[in-house]
Amino acid sequence: MKKIIHISDLHVGYKDNAERFYEIVEKVTLRWGGRAGDHVIVITGDLVDNANNTGNYHEVKVGLKAFKEAGFEHILVVPGNHDYGTGEHGDKKFVELFHQAFYGDQRGFPRKDIIGDVAFIGLDSMAEELHWYDELWAEGEVGGRQLRALGEMLKSEDVVSCQKRVIYLHHHPFDFRPLHQLKDSSKLKKVLSEAIAEGVSIDAILYGHNHEGKAHNGQWGIPQCYDAGAATLKPRPKYVDWMPWFKTRSSIRVIDLEQRTASKLL
Ligand SMILES: [Fe+2]
Repeated sequence: MKKIIHISDLHVGYKDNAERFYEIVEKVTLRWGGRAGDHVIVITGDLVDNANNTGNYHEVKVGLKAFKEAGFEHILVVPGNHDYGTGEHGDKKFVELFHQAFYGDQRGFPRKDIIGDVAFIGLDSMAEELHWYDELWAEGEVGGRQLRALGEMLKSEDVVSCQKRVIYLHHHPFDFRPLHQLKDSSKLKKVLSEAIAEGVSIDAILYGHNHEGKAHNGQWGIPQCYDAGAATLKPRPKYVDWMPWFKTRSSIRVIDLEQRTASKLL
């Protein structure tokens, strides 16, 4: 079974983060490139710092191309709030632009990829965050359409017959601080809990957004729950970052679903 390299919050376009990302590509390739085919790379959003800056998507793609050339065939991404605009203000036009840039197909989200005997399902937690009244905060919302489709996916034969299932999205599904958690977190929990109750395990849930890099294993009956932090260490506002508990961290992990372990790579 392939292992997962989980990366998040690159914020390419902010200061020298493009170079920092390329250094990460180099380090990951040096460490795991010899066994690239044994890994799936999952990047949980905020690939760029501001989608309005044309060229930021391209800079990310340069790094992803280097991963591919090193043999990392499977690279899965989901959008974060910065991938659809400034981070505070999103624009619907980026939904299609993001998909075209990073997937080149029209499958949309939820996005199902069966890789070996693992089903990966990506959610767009910006899908319901693109209205004028969503501009003030950036908690994320998956929305009813995706949740219904996710519920159906978790009943589909190809997903059920996989040994493991991994959900990945940008926003934090269970951070109990106000305005830090996915708005429809309880609805997502219900969909996943119903699948688990039917005997369809959810083996890992991967996310980013909060830049803290902590593990929350065991939440909602999911054994492996990881925030990958901010790979390029873009700091959050000073009023948040001064507390050690909330400090920005990079937690790029290599996740072993079979052993239910994870080791921090960087
Ligand atoms: Fe971020």
